[in-house]
Amino acid sequence: MQDAHPSRTALRVALRRAAHQLYDAQPLVLNDPIAVAILGTTYFEELRRTPTRPDRPFSVALRAFLVARSRYAEDTLARAIAQGVAQYVLLGAGLDTFAHRNPYPHLRVFEVDHPATQQWKRELLETGSLPTPANLTYVPVDFERESLPEQLYSAGFNPQVPTFFAWLGVVPYLTLEAFRSTIGFISARLAGSGVSLDYVQPRSALPFLEKLAHDSLAARVQLAGEPFRLFFTPPEIAAELSVFRNREDLGSDEINAHYFANRTDNLKLLGSAGRLLSAWL
Ligand SMILES: C[S@@+](CC[C@H](N)C(=O)[O-])C[C@H]1O[C@@H](n2cnc3c(N)ncnc32)[C@H](O)[C@@H]1O
Repeated sequence: MQDAHPSRTALRVALRRAAHQLYDAQPLVLNDPIAVAILGTTYFEELRRTPTRPDRPFSVALRAFLVARSRYAEDTLARAIAQGVAQYVLLGAGLDTFAHRNPYPHLRVFEVDHPATQQWKRELLETGSLPTPANLTYVPVDFERESLPEQLYSAGFNPQVPTFFAWLGVVPYLTLEAFRSTIGFISARLAGSGVSLDYVQPRSALPFLEKLAHDSLAARVQLAGEPFRLFFTPPEIAAELSVFRNREDLGSDEINAHYFANRTDNLKLLGSAGRLLSAWL
């Protein structure tokens, strides 16, 4: 990420979640009444121009992946809460709105993000008159340069409480060192803790047409100043997460069967590049 600027990819993801609320058929995969409100009038024009054309299948598929991953994180959080989790940490929260829709009165939420992105989010919330929920704590951290544990502890994170982490849309932008250090912190939590994340397979693992879609997306995020740097195949990420007791790693067929079956529109994933994973201690 470029230091002084809020994440541009966070805006693009939020525009697609908002487009899902406005343009996709019911039932929505991610029902998020704050998704449009957080963008407010500031991004009204960009939202109007956000691509939703059914003749651009990879664009529709990208929107499908983005709404599915947020929904998956919230579904896995629900499972974690049933097992006693009482803290939820969103790593690289971007414009995620879960904290504003949190249905669990006893769940403490920590939003960790790059300081520039977090500041921008807080300004958008203020502009939209969206108040900060009482059980939300903001934790500004640059994963590449600062210590996640130090910043979390000084923000009041309690290591004696099982915790669930969401790490959505962040892993491909990190160095392997930053990825491993964050996984090291998560894997040292109490039993019952866990994480959900998404990751991208390396170009070399993709069939020809998907290589082209990968190149187009990689070029766009590079132009946004946030190049993709880290890819895993399923066996590679399984090896990185071997200390976790249980893992679930979903490809497009499973995600489509779970979230996009019997839709009346053409919203669904294509290809095999992006995957959703959860891991439990
Ligand atoms: C593609 S956005 C995803 C945002 C959000 N999780 C979502 O799904 O809408 C990537 C996020 O990673 C954060 N990020 C990227 N590099 C970071 C770093 N070095 N330190 C902290 N956050 C970082 C950005 O600020 C941004 O919020």
